[in-house]
Amino acid sequence: MTSEREPIAVIGTGYVGLVTAAGFAELGNEVYCVDIDASKIEALERGDVPIFEPGLAESIAANRERLHFSTELAPALEHARLLFVAVGTPPTYSGDADLSAVHAVVDAMPTSDHHALVMKSTVPVGTGESIRRAFDQRGKSGFSYVSCPEFLKEGSALADFRQPDRVVVGDAGDWAGEAVVDLYAPLGAPLVRTDVKSAEMIKLAANAFLATKISFINEIANVCEETGADVVEVARGMGLDNRIGDKFLRPGIGFGGSCFPKDVSALKLLAGNSGYHFQLLTAVIEVNELQKRRVVAKLQKHLGSLVGKRIALLGLAFKANTDDMREASSLVLAARLQADGAHVSAYDPIAEPEARKLMRGVQFAGSAMEAIDGAEAVVIVTEWPEFVELDWQEVAQKTAGRIVIDGRNCVDPGAVRDAGFIYEGVGR
Ligand code: UGA
Repeated sequence: MTSEREPIAVIGTGYVGLVTAAGFAELGNEVYCVDIDASKIEALERGDVPIFEPGLAESIAANRERLHFSTELAPALEHARLLFVAVGTPPTYSGDADLSAVHAVVDAMPTSDHHALVMKSTVPVGTGESIRRAFDQRGKSGFSYVSCPEFLKEGSALADFRQPDRVVVGDAGDWAGEAVVDLYAPLGAPLVRTDVKSAEMIKLAANAFLATKISFINEIANVCEETGADVVEVARGMGLDNRIGDKFLRPGIGFGGSCFPKDVSALKLLAGNSGYHFQLLTAVIEVNELQKRRVVAKLQKHLGSLVGKRIALLGLAFKANTDDMREASSLVLAARLQADGAHVSAYDPIAEPEARKLMRGVQFAGSAMEAIDGAEAVVIVTEWPEFVELDWQEVAQKTAGRIVIDGRNCVDPGAVRDAGFIYEGVGR
């Protein structure tokens, strides 16, 4: 049976690309996925999903007949008018977004009056305009362009696709914007139809605002530590105000991941490049860097010098339910501890293979209990459910010391203290 839904192409099979592809395949669209990485495409064709994202492998398997994988653009161009671009835009050494992968896609497009690039990758404001210019200069004025930023969160990406808070479509008012709106219509989400630049800015501003919220609550937590207030109570009381909202008010050991650090810095530089000094974001970044390091001072307060001390890190991923180690606070923390002479053991249920590529001198353990064996202190870095459920009496049988630093405020302080530990959370 042929689908009545519009076939689409997705260029780039990373987190955003694969989730977008799986999501539309679920809705009944034929999806032509393209990636230059032949080993990735081979793996996907075999049914192996190269990233850990809850439900993604199952969704891809269940909709396999509508998903087509290739290293070639030709089948995508033949079958689809809408070409979603979901390639990486990592930060350059200066903090600007590296758009080389986006430009490679633009360069590969043929002359056409019935295709559109639909930008999912996070790009600086003005990227759509410069792509439009490039198309015009190369005699490809018929190529349409739509900005359709992605707001999914790693770990709940498919759920975010299926039930988005909003869909943003920025376009020049031609057929392509309408077609993208139609594509998302079955999801019934609020639609923000706007111009390309505003759509680009919505994405950067939303991420920068959320990062600001986290740095704000982290600073409130730090003040709570000085004053004896409990930040969990404070966040509860603040969050019930509808104007503030209760989300993204969890203090911790700093935000990480492939998006917030990169996008905050990209927005700050974008503003700077256009002559505006975005002071607030400078503070957001600095607070975040210092937050990652506060655990070290807490350990020193209890243990004195860290030379020769064994410190166990529970969790390494930048947050739970992902294997993503990009900008994970654990990277900074482990390096700081090692620089101060500590021996670092670590356990992460999913991210260990990724962590091994990035961390040197860390002793990786196969379980939480193995990681804490003989440790002077236990630091909870990522809020994996299995750490929340730890039996602290059992933990006390294994550790050499009696210090627990809960970098995510995720375990029950009473249970930890009852087992004889000194418990330190963040801001409580
Ligand atoms: C983030 C945004 O939430 C998505 O909307 C956006 O689409 C995505 O970036 C992107 O631009 O691609 P993500 O990086 O997957 O998503 O993860 P978040 O759940 O937002 O967490 C980011 C970091 O903030 C994590 O390190 C997390 O532990 C931390 N965080 C989050 C806190 O410290 N406190 C909170 O209350 C919430």
